[in-house]
Amino acid sequence: MGELIKRTHCCGELRSRDEGVQVAVDGWVHRSRRLGAIVFCDLRDKTGVVQIVFDDSVPEELFQKAEGLRSEYVVGVRGTVRERSAKNADIPTGDIEILADEMVVYSEAETPPIYIKDDDNADENLRLKYRYIDLRKNRMQQNLAYRAKVCAVMRGFFGGEGFVEVETPVLTKPTPEGARDYLVPSRISKGDYYALPQSPQLYKQLLMVGGTDRYFQIARCFRDEDLRADRQPEFTQLDIEMSFVDVDEVIAVQEKFLAKLFSEMKGVGIGLPLPRITYAEAMGRYGSDKPDTRFGMELVDISEAVRGSGFAAFSGAAGNGGSVRGICVPGGSEKISRKGLDKLAEGARTFGAGGLAWLRAGEDGGKSSFDKFVDAREREEISALFEVGPGDLILIAAGTDKVVFASLGWLRCELADRLGLIGRNEDALLWVTEFPLLEADGEGGVNAMHHPFTSPDPRDVHRLEDDPLSVRALAYDIVYNGNEIGGGSIRIHDAALQAQMFELLGLGTEEARAKFGFLLDAFKYGVPPHGGIAYGLDRLVMLMLGERSIRETMAFPKNQAAEDPVSGAPAPPGKGQLEELGLK
Ligand code: AMO
Repeated sequence: MGELIKRTHCCGELRSRDEGVQVAVDGWVHRSRRLGAIVFCDLRDKTGVVQIVFDDSVPEELFQKAEGLRSEYVVGVRGTVRERSAKNADIPTGDIEILADEMVVYSEAETPPIYIKDDDNADENLRLKYRYIDLRKNRMQQNLAYRAKVCAVMRGFFGGEGFVEVETPVLTKPTPEGARDYLVPSRISKGDYYALPQSPQLYKQLLMVGGTDRYFQIARCFRDEDLRADRQPEFTQLDIEMSFVDVDEVIAVQEKFLAKLFSEMKGVGIGLPLPRITYAEAMGRYGSDKPDTRFGMELVDISEAVRGSGFAAFSGAAGNGGSVRGICVPGGSEKISRKGLDKLAEGARTFGAGGLAWLRAGEDGGKSSFDKFVDAREREEISALFEVGPGDLILIAAGTDKVVFASLGWLRCELADRLGLIGRNEDALLWVTEFPLLEADGEGGVNAMHHPFTSPDPRDVHRLEDDPLSVRALAYDIVYNGNEIGGGSIRIHDAALQAQMFELLGLGTEEARAKFGFLLDAFKYGVPPHGGIAYGLDRLVMLMLGERSIRETMAFPKNQAAEDPVSGAPAPPGKGQLEELGLK
């Protein structure tokens, strides 16, 4: 190991006030060029870039070394800060430079496969393969630091409120969050497998039985599910559980936390209490259980008005237990072209809609895509249900509620994005409460909408047997700018009710025992009423940073194929490993 130039400063922190000071800096060569008898080198570390100058006043040997510098060489430089003749207003250190008098080259570098530039458009797979180079970007370093600060705020807040941070096992039994498990074969107990936790759900409930009372953990979770921009197979939750609480108490603590988080990280007040809407209202008004409330275009139910319509798509849906609903797009008549409409209808079709009908209000009932089937009066009746202004366009979907909500819920967000209806610096947080406890599984049975330990709303428990799909849960989600950033519930703490739940879900006593027997056993020995919540940390950080992908908030994320492009995982096991595990 050669000499180490012990740095006195970081590259990005030098300013005019340091003029005349002897400094030492370490970093990567961002760019290096020779202009006549001078070599300029931009040296970069995580704090920024500073210009180093080697001119004819430096010893010949040093000058030659400087001439040999290439991008991404790692060097240490000692020298004196001086005023720059040609200032660069684009960078914070642009008023000064360092006149070098000593340099050590720690390591040379090959030409990097990606540029170290925040707005580099490199293919994402290339970025992920060379993540260690990608991480040198200022933006990536800032994102990692931001994430770390979010975690620090979490620890500070929950620690201060009497929550105890507890680590729960990673080698465990399957947890019921509804995704596929990652399995790990046991060497000692051949043929048996651990599952990596989809969440710490069961253990945090056991902690409540164990008297921990208030628990939190920044926990790694694993779910083998299809990837999206806001989903990773391996992600982190801020996981929380509390004893002797009801919905209001869980929410109150979370609101205090969110207020602190937004004030510390973004310097904004979020206004408490946060709005709460029920699941039914969220679906009815926004077609989504994670509504973006930063803009209007709320759904309007026009089923009654079109029940007898001559347009079969409308009357059919309204008459067959489905619905017909629409949204009014401000200025949509001008802003959305014919072709644009076709594209939107195509989008709606991916959610199962037959298409999109449109109506432009105006004289004689205006114009619509269904003029062939309806008269001016019906068009007027429909328009009257919306708050239409001149130039607005009404877009309508018909079908089952599920299809109509999904397509219009998507359409609202898509249009708001395209038409620029979303304010830049708004933070819209709200609670969605009273989720249904169960959902139809499509085969005559039911699934838990959240997980099987979620408590039914006591007001609805009597309908569990006869009309289970109408039963609401004591479950809540926290939604931020149209994204679900967290969800939780009050849990069942009554063994008989839990058994009834398992039965409803089609889990026989045997199966329930095999899967969750340890939790049921624990409940025999005194279980407090309890409930909690978990936030998706990566997703939360992504949204707070205004990033479009969760991958920008993680150091080493998986790619679309759930691979780690840096290490090449997953990969075949080594020689002998399978044999040791008793596997073929
Ligand atoms: P849930 O499954 O809703 O609840 O997860 C909680 C939050 O975790 C985030 N999340 C994800 N983030 C990134 N990638 C994923 N694949 C992923 N899946 C989920 C979301 C979500 O809101 N045990 C319960 C919580 C509880 O009841 O207390 C649970 O895990 O932001």
